[in-house]
Formats: sequence, structure tokens, C-alpha cells
Amino acid sequence: MDRKEFIKLCGGICVVGAGVSVLLEGCASATYFAQSVTTKNSITLKKAEFIKVANGKTTERKYVLLRTEKHDFPICVYKLKDGSYSALLLQCTHKGCELIPQGDFLVCPCHGSEFTNTGVVQNPPAEQNLFTFKITSDNEHLYIQL
Ligand code: FES
Repeated sequence: MDRKEFIKLCGGICVVGAGVSVLLEGCASATYFAQSVTTKNSITLKKAEFIKVANGKTTERKYVLLRTEKHDFPICVYKLKDGSYSALLLQCTHKGCELIPQGDFLVCPCHGSEFTNTGVVQNPPAEQNLFTFKITSDNEHLYIQL
């Protein structure tokens, strides 16, 4: 390999590396797993977890994800437009695949069912709504009952 080919190769690797970096950054912001405290019967989540600060800008997340040892699937907690919250188990009620949050909807990658951000089925083949968790709150925290 001569010098010219070597420089071309290095340039190509840098472009691919930058592309992968941008792609990964996008994925990381789309699936944010919040910090929380889990006890036997509940999860405590700070409301501040819905606030995102990046590059000097403050924005609100529509939802955050939580993991528990009690469930094989993550829990998605949505902040709804009226200021209330919903907590949904990300297990499709059709055949049990893990749902993917997409904005205000949850989509099943297996057969295409869709659910609202409150867990109501919108598109078949699923026929049942999602399992939801009861939520209470105070000024700073949400308490999700397991
Ligand atoms: Fe979700 Fe079939 S498992 S639509």
C-alpha cells in the first residue's frame, strides 16, 4: 500500500467512525433508562428524570424507561400532556414481544400492534390493553406500585 492509498483508507475509516458515533448518540437519547429506587412493592422515580439538559438547552422527555428485577420487560413511564403520568409494562399482549416506544405510541416489532401512551390497543393483532401500574406522586417524586 502506497502513501496515497493509506491516506484514503484512514479518511474512509474516520468518516465511518463519525457516522457510527452520531447513530449511537441518537439511539442513546431515544432510550433513556432513568435512575430510580426499587423496594419490594414500589419504584421511586424523581420527576426531574423527565428533564433533559444538553448543550445548554433544557427539554422535557416524553417518557423514561425503568428496569426492575421483578419483571422481564422494562417499564415505560410517560408524562402525559395534562401533567399526569402513566406506567406501562413493555410486553405486547399479543404474543409477548418487547414493545418499542415511538413518541406517544408503543409499537410491537413482531407483528405490528400499536398502543397509546396510556396502554390502550390501537392496532391489531393485539386485542388487550397493556398492563399498567398504579402511580401516586408528591411534588418531587413518582411512586409506581409494583
Ligand atoms: Fe406484538 Fe404479535 S407479539 S403484535
